[in-house]
Amino acid sequence: MATKDSVLALFEKNKGIYISGEEIADNLHISRTAVWKAVKKLREEGYHIDAVQNKGYSLSMNTDVLSVQGIQKYLKPGIPWLKTEIFADIDSTNAIVKAKAADGAQEGIVILANGQTNGKGRVGRNFYSPVDTGIYLSVLLRPKCCTAQEALKYTIIAAVSACQAIEKISEETAMIKWVNDIYINEKKVGGILTEGSLSIENGFMDYLVMGIGLNVYSPKNGFPEEIAETAGAIFKKQQNDGKNRLAAEFLNYFMSYYTEQDNLKYTELYRKKSLAIGKKIKVYKNGKSQNAIGIDVDQECRLIVKYENGKTDSLSSGEISIRFS
Ligand code: BTN
Repeated sequence: MATKDSVLALFEKNKGIYISGEEIADNLHISRTAVWKAVKKLREEGYHIDAVQNKGYSLSMNTDVLSVQGIQKYLKPGIPWLKTEIFADIDSTNAIVKAKAADGAQEGIVILANGQTNGKGRVGRNFYSPVDTGIYLSVLLRPKCCTAQEALKYTIIAAVSACQAIEKISEETAMIKWVNDIYINEKKVGGILTEGSLSIENGFMDYLVMGIGLNVYSPKNGFPEEIAETAGAIFKKQQNDGKNRLAAEFLNYFMSYYTEQDNLKYTELYRKKSLAIGKKIKVYKNGKSQNAIGIDVDQECRLIVKYENGKTDSLSSGEISIRFS
């Protein structure tokens, strides 16, 4: 572990408590100069580290910076096989994981970024991914004998896990706009994009990359005009370790669904969290849009809708919009 990371791990364990430079140096068997250099680097990365004469250094309780150590603190024991890596600002976490998957990487790789320059959304859209205010996370999965149709399950598990994680660490109620958007108070606070590669030899998915983006805070200057009406954030105020807790809780839920494959539990939760049930919606299908009402979500997580002409349909993919008022 780099010196800076060892110093950070010590600070994380003692968040809000002052530790003298001498104590840190003794603890980690490094020089006082090395401590000072590590503190300088951590500050440059955005960590709020207070320094008080005769007391030492302390990682401020208001620090909210994504870090591997910070996430590990909140991960449940039993999922240590996840290999987490964090980038400051990259093009797309999904793109990085896809490249690793194509190189034969094992499942369980988790790539997070503090910002993305080319965040990818569904149907070729861009996912707005400003630096410092969100979580952009992708996981490499290699489920056994998974057909392309069954791959939808991993988007569903991710959506349910995101809602549970948000509700565990905030006061908010999170809902799902079928099929992959996370909403709070009628504003989109997150989206999921699951991509993959199908093996022609056996017709099963060779790998899946489940990517999720969450708007933890609103960007300083607000969301861009195109999404200002529809986008929202999970927290209004800066949290102590909000991003690390959220990322870890998301992974805790997601990996437990992934490994247990507990079908009924997540489909039921997905149904309960579905925003479209009972709402007036627009269904976009085969290049046209039709008004409908969301009736239900079935065991396969298909959205059952009733069109104005009285006909019903069960949708397993596609796009809807919801009229909230
Ligand atoms: C959507 O809202 O259409 C889906 C958005 C998915 C965004 C996430 S952010 C992490 C991962 N990397 C990407 O480039 N996209 C996904």
